[in-house]
Amino acid sequence: MTTSNTKLIFEQSRSGRRAFSLLESDVEVFDLTEELPEHLFRKKAAELPEVSELQLMRHYTALANKNFGIETGFYPLGSCTMKYNPKVNEDIARMDGFMHIHPLQDPATVQGALKVMYDLQEDLKQVTGMDDISLQPAAGAQGEWAGLLIFKAYHEKNGEGNQRKTILVPDSAHGTNPASAAVAGYNVVQIKSNEKGTVGVEALKAALGPDTAGLMLTNPNTLGLFEIDIVEIAELVHEAGGLLYYDGANANAILGKSTPGEMGFDVVHLNLHKSFSTPHGGGGPGSGPIGVKKYLSPFLPVPRIEKQKNLYVLNSDYEDTIGRVKGYFGNFGVNVRAYAYIKSMGAEGLQQVSEDAVLNANYLKARLSEYYDTPYKQHCKHEFVLSGLRQKRKGVRTLDIAKRLLDYGFYAPTVYFPLIVEESIMIEPTETEAKETLDEFVEAMIEIAKEVEEDPDLLHDAPLTKSVRRLDEVMAARKPKVIYQD
Ligand SMILES: Cc1ncc(COP(=O)(O)O)c(C=O)c1O
Repeated sequence: MTTSNTKLIFEQSRSGRRAFSLLESDVEVFDLTEELPEHLFRKKAAELPEVSELQLMRHYTALANKNFGIETGFYPLGSCTMKYNPKVNEDIARMDGFMHIHPLQDPATVQGALKVMYDLQEDLKQVTGMDDISLQPAAGAQGEWAGLLIFKAYHEKNGEGNQRKTILVPDSAHGTNPASAAVAGYNVVQIKSNEKGTVGVEALKAALGPDTAGLMLTNPNTLGLFEIDIVEIAELVHEAGGLLYYDGANANAILGKSTPGEMGFDVVHLNLHKSFSTPHGGGGPGSGPIGVKKYLSPFLPVPRIEKQKNLYVLNSDYEDTIGRVKGYFGNFGVNVRAYAYIKSMGAEGLQQVSEDAVLNANYLKARLSEYYDTPYKQHCKHEFVLSGLRQKRKGVRTLDIAKRLLDYGFYAPTVYFPLIVEESIMIEPTETEAKETLDEFVEAMIEIAKEVEEDPDLLHDAPLTKSVRRLDEVMAARKPKVIYQD
């Protein structure tokens, strides 16, 4: 039956119905008709739904309930890090002084906002071990691209721009790494991981040459494994005349413990919309600041937020800059959240973040390794990768396991990534989950492993309890049905 809860808001609309009732205003209203030319006026009123306040509330609540979010349940999406972010940071980012200013205002009138960004830059220097920061890039991938433009500018400045055309990327890398390198105009050469899941030093040596512009690395990598040979790797790349790029999207594994600066990296990006209190995913605004060592500082994007005596200024006076990579100065609201998060956690709190993230991941890995194949046995950092190969032999694929988890009330982990593990299941619990929640997830995964043994066909039909069952995912992507049918 179609109830008003399941009806479209347009179907509920009744002419003249309103979601509010206010006293009539006694303030004189500015008459736009005197200002605008006749042809700009709409000929017909906008066909917007007209509903009561209660209908409106139910409409939005029903929409919200259709979604599974971090506030609904456990969301162990490896690499995509869906963690709970303290709501107080949302409130702070929405304070009047932050919300109701405009980037085109005279800097003298927004000194507080500039101070927040300047101080955030200072904090991110500490977090990354870098000498200078730009808050401009709006995402991890954009940070990567901007960082690689800096590689390019550096090599060009040294007269090697035409020669150094290759970026090396391990086969475990996040897809954005090779994509950003290609967009920045580089040839991408893949480095095969060794049997331990990390960059093989010998494979790296073989790939390095006079054409090497640099190496992109995530540490810990997307298998959740720390690249223990990083110091040697950095030396090798530098000796070959290349630079090292640190994909810092996994920073929550090392916060307060180590910095990419100490590991030997030259350029870094962080995903503030992942590790620093802005929700990841959902296509919302992000922030992927980049940090560089001193010798690359002249190439950073402009304008740069600087302090001159007691005044915060926007300085574009840099001859070698790669230019502007984003409108204005970055996604300010995301940066405010990160600032509030860092200040409220403090140095010790950030260390606790990485300790808890690593502890939670190792706890899950240890408890699940009896029931699922664990291709890499060593301790992990913030995430780990299982393989569903054992289950595949019984005719159950990783996708079936992921779909069955929905019946148990969990969001599915990342599946089939990283590509180097067959039937991979990539799990990231994050630091914010309680042990009881982790235990419930383990119980569900163990139950599913038993179902694979006893009734594999059940899993082929999963999810069994959801209003939407198995979709044809290819058709859903290629030919989505976006028309509402009653
Ligand atoms: C390891 C890694 N690198 C890069 C990215 C790209 O970040 P973004 O989605 O902000 O472009 C992600 C995304 O989560 C990631 O997990």
